[in-house]
Amino acid sequence: MSIDGATGTARLLSPASPFGVAVTPAGEHQYDIQFDVQGLPAPSTLGPYRTYVAWATTPQMHPVVKLGVIANGRTTLGRITFDRTLILISAESSAAVSERSGRLVLRGTSAAVRMQPHDLAFLLAGLLDRSDVPADAHAHHATGADGWTPPPMHPEVSMPPALMTLRPDVAPYALATDDAIPLARPRELLQLGDGASINRTAAPVRRVLFGRTVTMLGFNGQYPGPLIQVDERSTIQVRFVNHTDFPTAVHWHGVRLDNRFDGAPHVTQDPVPPGGTFDYTVHFPDAGLYWYHPHHREDVLQDLGLYGNLLVRSRDPGFFAPANREEILMLDDLLIGEAGPTEYGRDAPTHALMGRFGNVLLVNGEPRWTSTARRGEVVRVFLTNVSSTRVFNLSWQGARTRMKVVASDLGRYEQESWVDNVVIAPAERFVVDVRFDDAGEARLVNRVRAIDHIQARFFEELQPLGAVRVAAGRATPDHAATFNRLRRNADVVAEFDRYRSQFDRPVDHQLSITLETGSLPFPLTPLMNFESVYRHPVEWSGTMPEMDWVATGKAVRWILREPGTGRENMDIRWRFRVGDLVKLRLVNDRRALHAMQHPIHIHGQRFLVTAVNGVPNEHRVWKDTVLVPTGFTTDVLLELSNPGKWMLHCHVAEHIETGMRMVFEVDPK
Ligand code: C2O
Ligand code: CU
Ligand code: CU
Repeated sequence: MSIDGATGTARLLSPASPFGVAVTPAGEHQYDIQFDVQGLPAPSTLGPYRTYVAWATTPQMHPVVKLGVIANGRTTLGRITFDRTLILISAESSAAVSERSGRLVLRGTSAAVRMQPHDLAFLLAGLLDRSDVPADAHAHHATGADGWTPPPMHPEVSMPPALMTLRPDVAPYALATDDAIPLARPRELLQLGDGASINRTAAPVRRVLFGRTVTMLGFNGQYPGPLIQVDERSTIQVRFVNHTDFPTAVHWHGVRLDNRFDGAPHVTQDPVPPGGTFDYTVHFPDAGLYWYHPHHREDVLQDLGLYGNLLVRSRDPGFFAPANREEILMLDDLLIGEAGPTEYGRDAPTHALMGRFGNVLLVNGEPRWTSTARRGEVVRVFLTNVSSTRVFNLSWQGARTRMKVVASDLGRYEQESWVDNVVIAPAERFVVDVRFDDAGEARLVNRVRAIDHIQARFFEELQPLGAVRVAAGRATPDHAATFNRLRRNADVVAEFDRYRSQFDRPVDHQLSITLETGSLPFPLTPLMNFESVYRHPVEWSGTMPEMDWVATGKAVRWILREPGTGRENMDIRWRFRVGDLVKLRLVNDRRALHAMQHPIHIHGQRFLVTAVNGVPNEHRVWKDTVLVPTGFTTDVLLELSNPGKWMLHCHVAEHIETGMRMVFEVDPK
């Protein structure tokens, strides 16, 4: 269909966002399109035409969106939100046409269009039924009582039944039920003064979830762990007591504390054995929202409920704009069937490729969060994602709300922004101010585009997380005036001015993300290499639980690789000095084996995201965790302010446990 000599490329660009990736409240990825076109002849040589127009549509050719006028050279047009995109360039009689009627000169498709239905289904069904598959392929099949309970199926995606016989190649781990184990209590609020000392005991608790009594873990018998509130620049003492079955340590995520108390086993301390204790001194230099969790076997311990928030308050009363009230929400998911949580791997994680997606969502450890407000109330919501691998896309439905994002991991944005939804990756934190404009019920939901790889189809997953009943009576005081205006925080701007000249310094260190596998259960190998397996920028959901759980840490090794030296993970040697500023480039190559998103976290320091895919980031805020979607290149300016040995790792629990971590050293000034 194309014209001789005319060629072009169209690149899907992810627009700027205060979050790791720009999506709509429905979870559709947003894109602008950068065209590079050569060889288009003068339109009049093709017929009664005066111009070229670019269009975007779906494979069904509906709807068709007019992107705009295009000519030879580079043009960026947008915005589109299709799951799969077809791009057309036509010659038209006028730039004002609203429908394509002229001659088609170029066309192209997005990568998602290559995902074909049935290919994978045929492959799996055919190969699983073959009797001549190599013996090794059956090694992971099991029959009879082996201690494993297959995870619940996804309600909308059916897999070949043969997959149901697969088992992980590690011994299962589950907590035994015992009526002597205490019933967990909801978390308490601990307002701690400077110098306070507390105990943090990790031990089994019984929970009643979805009508069944299950055994999980809790800090001090609570779910989540106690919510600790302190003023900035205070110090607390914490005695950790480990009554779990695994050696571990407690990490104070995001806090720039003394290296000795960072809680990184084998890096800053010996793991605390079952029955052992460790005394932490935690100093909080920065106002912000943090959390604590075990470090070592997070895939088991954190997933079973060991996590709690740390809210560090600024001593400046004007730090945030006024709000009527606060809510502090920890977002999680849990993979749970009739018999309780799906077993974990005793010696190595299950779900080593995708990470463990839960089939239910939890807010503060409960299936449903409820609250009340009055009309016009401004509620400051502190969000922490503590799930093993799930990226949430939160929005409000029902009674009208407005929302702005004001802060993230270690403080406030230079500039607040209005948002319709919040994308939050594992270990990230965001603070949003929400105004409940109308009376009624405002529902907090997670809405994403999930992929059924068998049918090659995208579908919506919409899961309720909670609801706020908004009463008709007006909230007092009324903060409408301050809420309606976006703040630019002059003190944050002034602070970042000290770093601005370094934003586009050259890259000092690069890490690319990849994977190595040993012998995987049979159907996973073709799945990983198979051409038609499309890799979305973010895997928002686990739609193949029967396959996901059988890839274990025995066969999967996730890798951070330094391209310059070829060094990987714990072999990477970086050495800095306090006061250094370094540019770090994180490259998540879409062509890597089993490419997926990774939330990358750095201990004990803070960084600014300076560019995403080469586009300067204007949504600046101090971070310790950044989501790097598939195919993205993310640049961060890392400030080395804290001496010691510090970890850099992926925060997908199953990825850190299967290799995706490194340590760098910071010498004192
Ligand atoms: Cu929250 Cu090393 O991590
Ligand atoms: Cu950390
Ligand atoms: Cu990862």
